[in-house]
Amino acid sequence: MQPETTQRFPYVNPTCNPHLCQTCLPRIIGGMRLTKEFRDQFSQHEMRTHGRKNGFVTTGQEARLSKWLPIIGLSKTMTLNDARIPDDSPIVMEIGFGNGDFLVQLATRHPDWTLIGVEIYLPGVAKAVGRLEDAEVIERTRITQLPAQFVLQNQVQEAQLDGIVVNHPDPWPKARHHKRRIIQKDFAQLMVSRLKPGGFIKLASDVQELAEWMRTILDATPGLRNIAGKSGYIDRDENRVFTKFEQRGIREGRTSQFLHYIKETNTGKKT
Ligand SMILES: C[S@@+](CC[C@H](N)C(=O)[O-])C[C@H]1O[C@@H](n2cnc3c(N)ncnc32)[C@H](O)[C@@H]1O
Repeated sequence: MQPETTQRFPYVNPTCNPHLCQTCLPRIIGGMRLTKEFRDQFSQHEMRTHGRKNGFVTTGQEARLSKWLPIIGLSKTMTLNDARIPDDSPIVMEIGFGNGDFLVQLATRHPDWTLIGVEIYLPGVAKAVGRLEDAEVIERTRITQLPAQFVLQNQVQEAQLDGIVVNHPDPWPKARHHKRRIIQKDFAQLMVSRLKPGGFIKLASDVQELAEWMRTILDATPGLRNIAGKSGYIDRDENRVFTKFEQRGIREGRTSQFLHYIKETNTGKKT
């Protein structure tokens, strides 16, 4: 068997934003050798996001992406209605799934669910696709590298999701970067609009200040009820997997906090 090689990108100027730079972007993409058609369908978008999108993928990962995304990828022009989701399947989305630790566990634990995995970092998508395939659960997932804001706004209809999970979102600790955090007032309202009445939002963070930020926003979002009571956190589910970023928090001496909200069946009513 041929050893799996790591594709190294050609020179990319480290001081530019390679996502926006028309010189470096083709070099990065060229290094990955995914076809333009593939990129147009699954990766490229005009929406501004923060955080890395591109990085190393191995030839083996690239082959798996090319095999699976045409089957389970949620391309830019699709909606969940086009995604061949069984009518009776609960639909749960994980936003920012990283390398897929939690997504694999969800898919394994809930064989009747369809999981929508949303992650902007291509090497994370590549790792997760490999793990999902190895765990033989990939066909019950739909995967996209498009940003969650785009996916929720354009590809999910109102009251279509049974649940949304956001684990350890990027903390953007500097005050001037707080507007980059994914949990914002508008985004919280968008999530609620896409949930069915009775649907859940579960979040985790190993950064105390970010956990409080998320709790403050979600506690104040109309239509959501914090199941731990206002300002409350839930206990860690002892059976949940330790994701990469929860593990990093532990190594660095931080304790994670967990939040669990339900969309009120009497929508619009704030608790
Ligand atoms: C700190 S990592 C956490 C990864 C994983 N959930 C975990 O617990 O290990 C945050 C992830 O969110 C992703 N992300 C950031 N903004 C995003 C967006 N707008 N849409 C989807 N994913 C996003 C990042 O690429 C990154 O992989």
